[in-house]
Amino acid sequence: MDISIVGSGYVGLVTGACFADVGHNVICVDNDSRKIESLRAGKVPIYEPGLEEVIHRNVSARRLRFTGSIEDGVANSQIVFIAVPTPQQPDGSVDLSFIEKVAREIAGVLTDYRVIVDKSTVPVKTGEKVAESIKRYNRHGASFDVVSNPEFLREGCAVTDLMNPDRIVIGAQGERAIDLMKKVYEPFMAPILVTDINSAELIKHAANSFLALKISYINAVASICEASGADVEKVADGIGMDRRIGRNFLNAGIGYGGSCFPKDIAAFITISEQLGVPFNLLKEVQRINAGQRERFLKAIRDTLWVLREKRIAVWGLAFKPDTDDIRCSVAIDLISDMLREGAHVTAYDPKGMERAREVSAIADAKLVGSALEAVEGAEALVIATEWDEFANVDLGLVKERMATPIVFDGRNLFDPGTMANVGFHYHSIGRKAVAPR
Ligand SMILES: NC(=O)c1ccc[n+]([C@@H]2O[C@H](COP(=O)([O-])OP(=O)(O)OC[C@H]3O[C@@H](n4cnc5c(N)ncnc54)[C@H](O)[C@@H]3O)[C@@H](O)[C@H]2O)c1
Repeated sequence: MDISIVGSGYVGLVTGACFADVGHNVICVDNDSRKIESLRAGKVPIYEPGLEEVIHRNVSARRLRFTGSIEDGVANSQIVFIAVPTPQQPDGSVDLSFIEKVAREIAGVLTDYRVIVDKSTVPVKTGEKVAESIKRYNRHGASFDVVSNPEFLREGCAVTDLMNPDRIVIGAQGERAIDLMKKVYEPFMAPILVTDINSAELIKHAANSFLALKISYINAVASICEASGADVEKVADGIGMDRRIGRNFLNAGIGYGGSCFPKDIAAFITISEQLGVPFNLLKEVQRINAGQRERFLKAIRDTLWVLREKRIAVWGLAFKPDTDDIRCSVAIDLISDMLREGAHVTAYDPKGMERAREVSAIADAKLVGSALEAVEGAEALVIATEWDEFANVDLGLVKERMATPIVFDGRNLFDPGTMANVGFHYHSIGRKAVAPR
């Protein structure tokens, strides 16, 4: 199939590369000319495990190319995917201006039948608006169908997720569009769920909200564990072994962040209110999530007493491991909070350093080249992202390099017993703090 994808970011670029890898001819479009130039020069602007190889392989095979022209993309494909940002506005609603602009641009160059597929995460009923907009600006009167095809990939394993999806959701009206969409996804051999457009759009927000709810649920349980002396990891194992519940997304920590969950939950709350059926449960999910960071900071203050002039090492800047994405990262917020209280912060992340350097809120933090360098002379270590690199570090060396061996583990990366044996004062989430043995 000939496919174009408008928006070549975390979703568009990975989707384009994977579509090409299963044999489709793909054109990735972006209006960021620097991004297109760098992709054409063989440089991949984001970090995602395995992505670079897939891109290079398919560019060499001439199944994947990059352009700044929507006209080029639309003219040379049967199906046009939209994967542009849908950021949160200050009132919690979604800024749909990127989608609207692309819809207008596509309409302006539409000359023959095309399927226009929305892959961005959008509020229910957006498809109707996209169709109206295309109809209005469709100068040549070309026929088209609008489809909703939400994306469920996880950053950090996006290529694997794209190649092995749990399910493909196709929200569409006409048989012609449904058939073409099925052809796109045939090579992935995944279950396909065909729905109406509104249901497909709602599936994405409902899925992300449910996952966020699971995280906030276990975080609330973690607080009860701390107050009662229970161990949240054991509790999560115990409930997660129930197949009706499952262990995934039951990891207590300093809360969810990233470019999706916070904005998608806010959007779902706003839409539900607009529709006259307020989803108040999700407000509690948000409240618990914000509270996790506060509780963690309080634990740091309770131990260190005053943060002013304290040398604090932070491991992790990315919002989760295996990505360079720092958008809405809890790690960044924590560093910013500690800097505001006068702490001297030294931070390290395996992939997020370059992007973090551009964040003004943490401009006063010192970013260093390794986990061990970060802890040199530190009076406390804060673990904000659960990278494998941190889990595999030589803990003896870490202790040696620190001025006072105190660790605040916001991701429950280590076993409390091991940390006590090495000689750390160790604080984690939902488990008893331990002192050196
Ligand atoms: N990142 C994720 O993990 C993830 C997962 C599922 C769904 N989503 C959704 O997918 C959408 C895209 O997210 P992302 O993380 O890939 O965003 P991103 O910011 O990484 O990429 C978006 C790209 O669109 C480009 N763009 C913006 N306006 C354009 C235009 N008019 N023409 C051409 N290109 C344009 C930008 O330059 C950028 O490269 C969002 O709706 C998001 O909620 C994201």
